[in-house]
Amino acid sequence: MALQTLFLFTLLLFASKAAAQLDFCVADLSSPATPAGFPCKNPAKLTVDDFVFSSALAVPANTSNPNKATASAVIVTQFPGLNGLGTSLARVDMDVGGSFPMHSHPGASELLLVTEGTIYAGFISSANAVYAKNLTKGDVIIMPRGLLHFAVNYGKEPAAGIVSFSSPTPGLQTTNRALFGNNLPTEVVQATTFIDQDQIKKLKAAFGGTN
Ligand SMILES: *[C@@H]1O[C@H](CO)[C@@H](O)[C@H](O)[C@H]1NC(C)=O
Ligand SMILES: *[C@@H]1O[C@H](CO)[C@@H](O)[C@H](O)[C@H]1NC(C)=O
Repeated sequence: MALQTLFLFTLLLFASKAAAQLDFCVADLSSPATPAGFPCKNPAKLTVDDFVFSSALAVPANTSNPNKATASAVIVTQFPGLNGLGTSLARVDMDVGGSFPMHSHPGASELLLVTEGTIYAGFISSANAVYAKNLTKGDVIIMPRGLLHFAVNYGKEPAAGIVSFSSPTPGLQTTNRALFGNNLPTEVVQATTFIDQDQIKKLKAAFGGTN
């Protein structure tokens, strides 16, 4: 019994020591990312500022762009302290009529908390069911990992929100850019979507695609 207790105690001591050594791994962004994240900066050189991100997130971002909406992301590449910790965030600002086009984050589920105005937001399940509604200040919606989702401000005032991701590297894939913002040949887009070639050419011009 005493031996068992000693063994357990040693195990716990070892486990807590190991955990202490792995408290954090602030990203060394000068090295390439790996599937497990970035390599760690030398822990001896870290200060509190490695764990604090200071920026203008307190004020609305400039939404003068075709989508009339801006996402100010605070992911590992902006905030290296997030490396390996399974979380990141963004501030979203949407002018009246603004939108975030259909997109997905392959690496993260997303919580959206509306802090100003009204945002019509939702996602499409893999069974193609639409789950969307008008959210007002204080509402939170969960966009399950990897699913296509979108947001539109149909309201009469600018809207804002805070997004929380379940990864420091959520990733981003946007359907309009995937279809019309690259060199995928027009005939392939037509064959796979049934959209007219003229319309595809117009959309490629709008989203910066070629071919
Ligand atoms: C917002 O961005 C637009 C386009 O880049 C720019 O012309 C404008 O001056 C910016 N507005 C402010 C207030 O910074
Ligand atoms: C969302 O709000 C807009 C603006 O008030 C309204 O036009 C629209 O019908 C609403 N949509 C739903 C599904 O409630």
